[in-house]
Amino acid sequence: MNVPRHIAIVMDGNGRWAQGRGAERNEGHRSGLDPVRMVIEECLRAKVAALTLFAFSSENWSRPADEVAGIMNLFFDALEAELPALNKNGVRLRFIGERAALAPALRSRMGEAETLTMGNSALRLQVAISYGGRQDILAAAAQVALACERGELRSSELTESGFAAHLALAGLPDPDLFIRTGGEQRISNFLLWNLAYSELYFTATLWPDFSSAEFAAALREFAGRQRRFGLSGAQLQDA
Ligand code: FPP
Repeated sequence: MNVPRHIAIVMDGNGRWAQGRGAERNEGHRSGLDPVRMVIEECLRAKVAALTLFAFSSENWSRPADEVAGIMNLFFDALEAELPALNKNGVRLRFIGERAALAPALRSRMGEAETLTMGNSALRLQVAISYGGRQDILAAAAQVALACERGELRSSELTESGFAAHLALAGLPDPDLFIRTGGEQRISNFLLWNLAYSELYFTATLWPDFSSAEFAAALREFAGRQRRFGLSGAQLQDA
């Protein structure tokens, strides 16, 4: 079976899952940790090289303050609780997004986790916190503009790979498979540049209910898709 090298996931539906049970929305976010663990284990088992999870968007800051605080506490506690197992299993953890917006205590824990797991290579796990795809592209454009101003780069010499080297996911292959739970069929400002040719998989299942069986179904669906990258079907058959 053709296994994706890199999977990107929008973990949507935690709030509705909780509300459907008459519970607080943050209860849904806490329950969202179970499928996070499951997906990491399945990626290790299937030898997926990279996994990128959208945990908190630049736009999520506009949610009610108590929900934002609950999610931030969850990140802090989850990092503490899960780090030893992640490290033991060879996961290299990295965070992408606007770090300056986060509390110093969380930021320093994130930095420590990155340093601890830097040498691991079984799975590269990116967690996007305070991340926005447009902001990512804008920051890369600013770096390129700076290089031009300094005379280090001519605008005519800028290439796709040269530009992508300034993005948050520099050095990783683009996601082959994008999964979004929770029923909405949109990208919501996730990895706008990197998702250009990703296969898209949408499911109505709310994130806390996302099971290993459904993850396996997404992998099977991916394996059955023909990826053309702009070529015709006949060209691919000849290749
Ligand atoms: C979107 O559901 C989910 C979030 C904003 C938070 C995601 C966080 C986790 C799954 C927890 C831990 C993750 C890591 C990697 C430590 P929503 O609130 O938009 O749901 P709704 O659409 O039903 O309102």
